Amino acid sequence: MEKREELYRGKAKTVYLTDDSDKLILHFRNDTSAFDGQKIEQLDRKGEVNNKFNHFIMTKLEDAGIATQVEALVSDTESLVKKLDMIPVECVVRNVAAGSLVRRLGVEEGLLLDPPVFEFFLKNDALHDPMVNDYHIVSFGWASEAQIAEMKALTFKVNAVLKALFDEAGMMLVDYKLEFGVDAAGNIVLGDEFTPDGCRLWDKETRKKMDKDRFRQGLGSVVETYIEVAERLGLAL
Ligand code: TMP
Ligand code: ASP
Repeated sequence: MEKREELYRGKAKTVYLTDDSDKLILHFRNDTSAFDGQKIEQLDRKGEVNNKFNHFIMTKLEDAGIATQVEALVSDTESLVKKLDMIPVECVVRNVAAGSLVRRLGVEEGLLLDPPVFEFFLKNDALHDPMVNDYHIVSFGWASEAQIAEMKALTFKVNAVLKALFDEAGMMLVDYKLEFGVDAAGNIVLGDEFTPDGCRLWDKETRKKMDKDRFRQGLGSVVETYIEVAERLGLAL
């Protein structure tokens, strides 16, 4: 597999073409972004930690029968993935109230959400990722009704697998964001990443924040805590 030119540079990852037109390389950089890119810092080892963490979680999801983009780790900071046509919305599931839900609805942080809440956001930093609903998505042609149903079903399937995985390791999966794409055969496949950058994880007993809120809120020990999450899951970094 040969790495070719850069296709796209996001806030934390760079995507490269390869000599296989169906495969891309994702490079996880140390850049860490919050507030739609207003706060960006380089955190030592974060690219490596997130690359390996993402591969570990995506492999667990594949084992549970969920199709993901991930093919293989190719270096400490790079993964080989299937090329997808990404759908420009973010699928968020919330098991516990936190973040923008608390700000928007004035509910107390930590409130258990049963059943969990599902929300769509448009991927658009300039507009601050506004919340959208199924009608916006169909009307603007971002995805079909069938694709929306599939994204919701897969996002909840991921919830069942990962809630149990983190619970067994002493953590609560508070909320998370997933992104999907369409593969060459037209199937909806989980893309992008699952790392502590795109979810909220609290220690079950102490409620210590173990995710990117440490960076957003200036709590310190960001990468060290991501490594602790990985170690609790049995992934040595
Ligand atoms: P929120 O509380 O800011 O709406 O975020 C909910 C969850 O989704 C949280 O775990 C962070 C994640 N998320 C991202 O990683 N990137 C995004 O652009 C958005 C909107 C949410
Ligand atoms: N969307 C990510 C966050 O919520 C990164 C960013 O917006 O810069 O922190």
